Amino acid sequence: MSAESLENRIFEPSAEVKAKAAVPSMEAYHALCKQAETDYTGFWGGLANELLDWHKPFTQVLDESNAPFYRWFGDGELNVSYNCLDRHLETRGNKTAIIFEADDGSSSAVTYRELYHRVCKFANGLKSLNLNTGDRVVIYMPMGVEAVVAMQACARLGLIHSVVFGGFSAKSLIERIHDASARVIITCDGQFRGGKEMPLKPAVDEALQDADCACVEKVVVFKRTGGAVNWNPAREIWWHDLIAELSDECAPVFVNAEHPLFLLYTSGSTGKPKGVQHSSGGYLLHALNTMRWTFDIKDSDVFWCTADVGWITGHSYVAYGPLAAGCTQVVFEGVPTYPDASRFWKVIEKHKVSIFYTAPTAIRSLIKLGADLPKQHDLSSLRLLGSVGEPINPAAWLWYYETVGGSRCPIVDTFWQTETGGHVITPLPVTPLVAGSCTLPFPGLQMAVVDEAGKDVEWGTGGFLVIKKPWPSMIRTIWNDPERYKKSYFPEDLGGQLYLAGDGAIRDKHTGYFTIMGRIDDVLNVSGHRMGTMEIESALVGNPLVAEAAVVGKPHDIKGEAIVAYVVLKGTRPSGEEAKKIVAQLRDWVGKEIGPIAKPDDIRFGDNLPKTRSGKIMRRLLRTLAKGEEITADISTLENPAILDQFKQVH
Ligand code: PRX
Repeated sequence: MSAESLENRIFEPSAEVKAKAAVPSMEAYHALCKQAETDYTGFWGGLANELLDWHKPFTQVLDESNAPFYRWFGDGELNVSYNCLDRHLETRGNKTAIIFEADDGSSSAVTYRELYHRVCKFANGLKSLNLNTGDRVVIYMPMGVEAVVAMQACARLGLIHSVVFGGFSAKSLIERIHDASARVIITCDGQFRGGKEMPLKPAVDEALQDADCACVEKVVVFKRTGGAVNWNPAREIWWHDLIAELSDECAPVFVNAEHPLFLLYTSGSTGKPKGVQHSSGGYLLHALNTMRWTFDIKDSDVFWCTADVGWITGHSYVAYGPLAAGCTQVVFEGVPTYPDASRFWKVIEKHKVSIFYTAPTAIRSLIKLGADLPKQHDLSSLRLLGSVGEPINPAAWLWYYETVGGSRCPIVDTFWQTETGGHVITPLPVTPLVAGSCTLPFPGLQMAVVDEAGKDVEWGTGGFLVIKKPWPSMIRTIWNDPERYKKSYFPEDLGGQLYLAGDGAIRDKHTGYFTIMGRIDDVLNVSGHRMGTMEIESALVGNPLVAEAAVVGKPHDIKGEAIVAYVVLKGTRPSGEEAKKIVAQLRDWVGKEIGPIAKPDDIRFGDNLPKTRSGKIMRRLLRTLAKGEEITADISTLENPAILDQFKQVH
C-alpha cells in the first residue's frame, strides 16, 4: 500500500474491542469530553474521588489563584504508595504485581503482598537514614524490581525522588544531584544489559568527588551483579545491610495532594536540564485513569511497558500507573535485541502479555532485524498495543498493527511529555485509527492548535500545540526555577494562559485528528530520548580542542532523528585520518559529559559556523546540509558562505 493511501485508511475497532472497552464507543468518548467541558472541576473532582483513596478528602478541586502555579485537590491528603499497594492487599494480595524478566532470560514473580512488604522494609531503611518528608533522593538504577521498590518507598515517606537514567554519565548525575540538593543516592553495583555486565557505581563514585555533590550524605547500593566495587564505609551502605534487621511494615506518611512526588530532569532549549516537578494527587489520578481509559486495563491483563524508569514513561506506566490499577505487569531488565531480535516476542509469548507498550524506535529497529520474527511466536495473548515517545511513521505502524497485533489489536499512539505526566492526545481502544496520527484528546484535556498570537487555527492548518486549561497531572513548576516554568510553558506572546507543549501540530480537515509535526524548539528526539541541542553544544565546547559548535537533528530511519554536530576547532580544520581521530575523541567526550545517548552520529568541521552578519547561527542551513540537500535558500546575508562547502564533508 502506498504511504498516501495508508494515511487515508481508517482502521475501525472490532466488535469484540467495543464490547469490552471501558469507554465502549465514540459516543461515550464524546460524552466524557462534553461532561468535562460543561463542568470541568466536577469532572476531575469526580474522578479523583472515584479512583483514589484519600486520607483526608479535598474540598476544592482546582485553585487558580496563583496561576500558572495551579493546585489540584489542594487541601486533600493521600499517600501514593498506599494507593498503589495497601489498598490492593485485601483483594489482590496474592496477585502477581510484577513479573521480572531478567536480561539473561530468567524470570521471577512478586505478588502485591510481597511488593508491599519489600517497599515497607526499604522505606524503614530510608527512614533510618534520618530523611525528612520533602527531602530529595536520587535513584540511579537499572530496570528491576528494586528500582520500583525504591521509588515506591520514597513515595511512602513523602520523599521526593529524582530518578536519573542509568545511561547518563557522572557529569549529568552531578548536575542533577546538585540542582535537587539530594541527601541520599540509591544505586546498584552494576547492571546486566545484552549479556554484558556493566558497572554503575563508578559513575556515582566519580560524581561524589565533585564539590557540587557535598549535599549527599549516604549512598545505598543494591547488589545486582556482584562485581567489584570501591567502597567508602563512612558514606556507603549495602541495601541488604540497611534493611536486614528492619520490619516489613511501615505506616505511609500522608501528604498534601500537592506534595511533590518526584522531580524528573528533562531537556529544554537551554544547556541546563529542567527539573520537572510533579504532584502526588493529580499525577497519580492521571497515571491511573489513563491505565483505565487508554489501556482499558482489566484485572486479567498482563501489561508490559518497555520504558526504563529513568524516563517519564517508566514513571507513569511502570512505577505508578500499573500498580495503582492493581494489574500484573512485566518489568524488563534487558534490551530488545538480546539474545536476538525476537526477545520482545518471546517475552510476550512466555508471560502472555495482553497489553504491550513500546517506542517507534524499537519497532523500526526490530522490523529491520527480522520483520518476520513475530510470526514465529504465539502472540495471541495480545489485545492492545501502544506507542510512545516520538511520531510513528505509517509503515512502522502498519507492521506493528498487522504483524505484531494480528490486525486485531488497536494501537494507542499516545502523545504526551515529561511535563504532562500522562497521555494528553491518544486514541482509546474504540477510536477509529489512522496510521501516524495520535487522533484525539484524552477526555478532559483541552488540546488546541494556535498561531503565534495564541489564536486557534483552522483544522488543516499547522500551528503550535497548546493545552487551554490546567489539568491534574501537569508539571507544577521547574525545581528552583519558577520563572523558567512560566516563560517556557506559559509564554506572554500567547497571552500567558496557554500551556505551550513545544510541538507543532496539525488537525485533519475532516476528522479533527491531531498529527504531531515535531518540536518547535531546539529539542531533539533521538530514539525516543529527548535531548537539547544546547546541552550537546555546551558539552562540545567544553572540550579543549573546540572553539564553537552547533548541533542540529537530521531524519534517521531507525532513531527518528540523528545528531549532527558542526564544529570549529581552535586549531586548523582537520582532514583525512586526523579528522576521523578527532571525531572519535569528540564522540567519546560527549558520551562522558552527558551519556552515550548524546554522542553525535555525524561530526563535521569548518573554519567558522555559518552566521548572519548580526552573528546568528543559521541553523536552518545546517539542517539542510545535514540532510545532504542542496541549499536553495537565500544566503546573501551570510557572513561567510564559503564555509558551507566545508561542512558538506562527512568524516
Ligand atoms: O515531541 C514530542 C515527542 O516527545 C516529546 C516529549 O518527550 P519526553 O518529555 O521525553 O516524553 C516522552 C514520553 C512521553 C514530545 O514533546 N512525543 C512523545 N510522544 C509522541 C511524540 N511525538 C509524536 N507522537 C507521540 N506519540
